Order: sequence, then structure tokens, then C-alpha cells
Amino acid sequence: MFPTERPRRLRRSAPLRRLVAETDLLPRHLVAPLFVAEGRAEPRPIESLPGHLQHTRDSLRREVAELASRGVGGVILFGVPAVKDPFGTGAYADDGIVQEALRDVVAEVGDELVVMADLCLDEYTDHGHCGVVRPDGVVDNDATLDLYGRAAVAQARAGAAVVAPSGMMDGQVGAIRRALDDEGFTETAILAYSAKYASGLYGPFREAVGVEIAGGGDRKTYQQDWRNRREARREVRLDLDEGADMVMVKPAMTYLDVLSDLRSLVDVPLCAYHVSGEYSMIKAAAERGWIDGDAVAREQLGALRRAGADFILTYFAGEIAGGAS
Ligand code: PBG
Repeated sequence: MFPTERPRRLRRSAPLRRLVAETDLLPRHLVAPLFVAEGRAEPRPIESLPGHLQHTRDSLRREVAELASRGVGGVILFGVPAVKDPFGTGAYADDGIVQEALRDVVAEVGDELVVMADLCLDEYTDHGHCGVVRPDGVVDNDATLDLYGRAAVAQARAGAAVVAPSGMMDGQVGAIRRALDDEGFTETAILAYSAKYASGLYGPFREAVGVEIAGGGDRKTYQQDWRNRREARREVRLDLDEGADMVMVKPAMTYLDVLSDLRSLVDVPLCAYHVSGEYSMIKAAAERGWIDGDAVAREQLGALRRAGADFILTYFAGEIAGGAS
């Protein structure tokens, strides 16, 4: 007996496959994470993130213009300050590196793409934690909220269209929304890193921004435990109640179940962060000739779209948009 149902009929040619494709991956779906270092004369390659640099203000401006010309949906800026201190002052000073870079970039690309700022303290604190640390070593949730509010206002004032709190403090979205509204920044949107897991995949990022957690510590008292799936729904509900405009799952490939759950839970834009370790694993294997890096990158980012992500933060943004437009 020959089969009557023949799914292969719709796979036999590229035009047929394109016609019936259920999802797609376009430059507009991608947001490029970019690093900008204070007081550096030349951009410096980041060894663990091949193809990426710690930018100078100048090279950053050029990079963003290039990404805009490729149709990339947005950029998200991370700062590497010249000096760190216990309170992460550089995160909320008006002359902090990200605030300076935001002004440059907004002047350069205006409305061509969405300019976002990561909002956290870890790049700016000498102990490497995402918040203020008490003498007993505990990261002080509520003392940190005030500083996040100040960072949000500084970023909005510098021109960020979207601020993206990534520190996983309880109540951070509400504190930031209030601080922004109090200063008249009612139109600045919040992309909440809502379901952010304590992950081994952030290693290359920490090298990129020069963050080392004091005493060989970790972020397990504030970032989520990878054993938990339901908890992500709770985190997202809280962030939406506090005024998040968009929510995120991070990392990406190891949390497709979470992404899919959240897709059916929320109506707001949902995004996934394909993080540094995910990028570097693909690059490293491709370098050895073990996989086709471009194909694997598209397959992974495509899987995130299929699982429900509206857009994706990815270090592949420039590459993929360069080849796809
Ligand atoms: C925290 C932050 C981190 C990343 C983005 N924001 C690191 C961390 O939580 O330790 C990681 C991103 C990546 O690995 O690509 N400010």
C-alpha cells in the first residue's frame, strides 16, 4: 500500500518550501548587543566573541550606522567603564560611557533602528554583582532599586528609546517605571529581562565587559534556577503588573519550553536573548570545520522565532542581516 498523504510534495522545490514556511527570520527581528569602552583610543577585539569588539565611541557610531543600513531591528548597548566602584556610579552618571554613547548613536541613526540600553550595575561595580552588596555579602534588593531608577532616567535623558533591566531584582520594573514617569519620560519603554536564568552560557560576555564576581561568587540568589519552568510565568506576570512593555527569556536555546509557555501567556512582544556562550559555541565549532556556522545560526535563531519570539537579541545580528537582505 502506497501512502496517500505525501508531505514531501510541499518540500520538493525551494519556491514551494518558501511559500508554505510557517515562520521567517528577517533583519528586523534581530537586535545586536554592542560593547563600548570608556577612554579607549582603538577598538579591541573580544577573543571569546569572535567578530565582536569593545568599541570606541567612534567605532560604535560607525557600527550602528552599518547595522541600520542592513535593516537590523535595533541595538542594545553595554558599557565598559574606565573605573568601577561599589555602587556602580558609571551606570547612572550623565557622563557614564553608555549615556555618552547613546547620545552619539541617536544623533547618528535617529529613527532608523531602535536604540536600547541594558540597565544593570554589574559592569560598573568593582565586586561584579548586579546590585549593591551589604557588608554580610548579600545583594541588597531594595537599595539597588533606587540606583536602577537613576540609571533609567540617565539613559532616557541620553536618548534611549528602550531601557532593559537585566539585574533580576524584585520590583525593578516598577521602580524604573516610576522613576521614568516622575521625570517625564512616560514614552520610554521597558524591555524586562523577566525570565533570566543563572547560566553557564554568560562566560564570554563577562570577558567582553571585564566582569568578575568577587570571591568566585555567582548570581544564584537573584537569577533563576534552571530547574524551574513554572517560575518564569510568575516572574513575567510580576513584570507585566509593574509596567513592562516587552518581556524576555534568557538564555535562549536551553529555555525553548519557557519561551513557548510565555508565548501563550502574554500578548506583549516577547523576545529571546541568544547569549554570548550560545554564539561562541557555534563560532568555535565552525572554526574547526565541525559544523556550518551560518546554517546552525539560522537554525537556532529560527527555532526561537518558531517557539514564539517576536525578536531576538543576538551576536549574529550583523552577519545574518548582511547575508539576508
Ligand atoms: C547583566 C547581563 C549579563 C548578560 C547581559 N546582561 C551577564 C550576567 O547576568 O552575568 C549576559 C549576556 C550574554 O551572555 O550574552 N548585566
